Amino acid sequence: MTHFLDLDTTPADDLRSIITQARAMKDARAGQPKGAPDAVQPLAGRMIALIFEKPSTRTRISFDVGARQMGGQTMVLSGKDMQLGHGESIADTARVLSRYCDLIMLRTFEEATLLEMAEHATVPVINGLTDASHPCQIMADIVTYEEHRGSVADRKFVWAGDGNNVCASWLHAAGQFGFDMTFTGPETLDPNPRAVAFARGKGRRVEITRDPLKAAAGADAIVTDTWVSMHDPESARERRHNQLRPYQVNEAMMAAGKPDALFMHCLPAHRNEEATTAVMDGPQSVIFDESENRLHAQKAILRYCLGV
Ligand code: CP
Ligand code: NVA
Repeated sequence: MTHFLDLDTTPADDLRSIITQARAMKDARAGQPKGAPDAVQPLAGRMIALIFEKPSTRTRISFDVGARQMGGQTMVLSGKDMQLGHGESIADTARVLSRYCDLIMLRTFEEATLLEMAEHATVPVINGLTDASHPCQIMADIVTYEEHRGSVADRKFVWAGDGNNVCASWLHAAGQFGFDMTFTGPETLDPNPRAVAFARGKGRRVEITRDPLKAAAGADAIVTDTWVSMHDPESARERRHNQLRPYQVNEAMMAAGKPDALFMHCLPAHRNEEATTAVMDGPQSVIFDESENRLHAQKAILRYCLGV
């Protein structure tokens, strides 16, 4: 059985095949209405469970639309409305869902919850974001970068701000797709050291600097994310804002990168906090392409997991 749990645990060749498939499927749909079925229907007869223990716009809708375009059926479920949110174990939930569904996509808090679901499910499980990582997002981001600028290999990606779950998946991707990363943010919000070690272990350069303009020098892309993630306590908001303000992606930071550097953000964004509106809506921004490519990347991930 083929789960899609993280970029560091999925073979690099498989990740590259998924990107190739995603781009081919996107090209094949060019000009079609969003609801039109794909010419091939690899998910015909398949039932997909999409479970959310946290809010979502892009992940929820892109998985739902993507599965339907491929002929599948979906159930979008809120964790709190299931017995899962009222004391039933993850293991038992996994066993029960596996009797009804062909695949489970889960957005949850603890990474351990996702891993327990995968351990006990007898159908593939996809990580739709945990406190620790967001692999589907970065697959879409690789598609996005490459359709604008060509191969990510040996490029310099700069992450500005909080070394969070999305940042960890970028570091995994650096190792698997072969690019370098510079992190710039406050020391207390440094990225997960295991993710840094993974990229370095694959021979990639990972730099950590407190100077945002120095970090941005020579960047092929500058990437950021919200200063307060869904798993962060509300009480930390003010402190985080004060710590992260110097790392806002603004026109000065973009000007320090290469002239053709892209600006990337997984969204949702808080405009004029982690990035200015001028940057988000500027000529270097590809943020809405990233959102669209969630659809195409995840369709390829669904096919990979189901072997269809
Ligand atoms: N980027 C992302 O995962 O967005 P949602 O939280 O809206 O799914
Ligand atoms: N880091 C953010 C990403 C949202 C898609 C969060 O976890 O809330």
